[in-house]
Amino acid sequence: MDLYKNSGLTIGEQEAKGIVSWKSPSNIALIKYWGKHGKQLPLNPSISFTLSQAYTQTTIEYKPKRKSSSKIDIDFYFEGQKKPTFARRIVKYFEELKDIFPFLPQLSFEINSDNSFPHSSGIASSASSMSSLALCLCSIERDIFKKEMETEAFLQKASYVARLGSGSASRSIHPKVALWGNTNGMEESSDLFSIPMKSVLHDVFRKFHDDILIVSKKAKSISSSEGHAIMSGHRFKDGRILQANKRLHILIKALKNGKLEKFGNIVEEEALTLHSLMMSSNPSYLLMEPNTLQIIMEIQEFRKNSKIPVYFSLDAGPNVHVLYPDSVAVEVNDFINSRLLKYCKDREYIKDYMGSGPKELDF
Ligand code: PMV
Repeated sequence: MDLYKNSGLTIGEQEAKGIVSWKSPSNIALIKYWGKHGKQLPLNPSISFTLSQAYTQTTIEYKPKRKSSSKIDIDFYFEGQKKPTFARRIVKYFEELKDIFPFLPQLSFEINSDNSFPHSSGIASSASSMSSLALCLCSIERDIFKKEMETEAFLQKASYVARLGSGSASRSIHPKVALWGNTNGMEESSDLFSIPMKSVLHDVFRKFHDDILIVSKKAKSISSSEGHAIMSGHRFKDGRILQANKRLHILIKALKNGKLEKFGNIVEEEALTLHSLMMSSNPSYLLMEPNTLQIIMEIQEFRKNSKIPVYFSLDAGPNVHVLYPDSVAVEVNDFINSRLLKYCKDREYIKDYMGSGPKELDF
């Protein structure tokens, strides 16, 4: 997209040297993105709560390359250790970004990345890691070319760049709530980047919790990329696209009007739909585990008996997100401790909540 091409300036030796760092959170999709086409474009629009405690911090030190070549030159460290497999993925990503950032092959990069959550906790880290990387690249461009950009335009570009690394990462860029994907009746919505939606939030949703219960730490049998690919030939694909668009509008209305129960119903239906799509695809596969179902049933029973508004969501994996407003935090904490932790691997869970979005860190 022309809008995002920089002017192809020649980088002066001194200017092309520096260090940038961003801390960027994960997010939980309320309406799920599942299936893509073209260059990382979503089959359907999605909306998510931006989280706070599950984040990636990425720092990039860059300097001019000693010898000029068209190759991408990266040293990548994850939690202090060199990680060649991750490095290869980033090289591929940078290769794809050469059109947007023509200076990438002119520099060498040392990238250090750390997650706030345990490395093998089974928490999908692509949203936080790819968004922090994208934000760093936009900061490098800003610093080298002394590019003055309004914050809104900067974040829009970062979301565009993050999407090319991982679709869900495009949504982590904005505080509180973000919408990614073109949908009827919302002029500003786009398949290319996410847009901020925090202004739609009713007071009921202003302080919202999302505790992530770790059911399994094992690597998934089918990755999200494979899942998206399988969705292209899914026999329910067209119906799913219509359903996601319809639910999106109902959910936005519930967020605006403070309708907690409506919100909860849609969020739970979406989580179960995501997994039903996996089970009914060809090949069919299952990412939930017995304890995922135990937790879901406990939440439903607790809600029915106590009338406390607590709801579940799932990512593409067995871990369960427990969503609830701050007004019932004490009761839900007791419930998690007394009834749910026994289903968690090593009784582990991450206490998270809706957050204020990525932060640039000073050096
Ligand atoms: O961004 P990806 O490619 O990791 O896909 C994310 C897919 C889901 O987490 C299942 C749904 C979503 O919208 O985040």
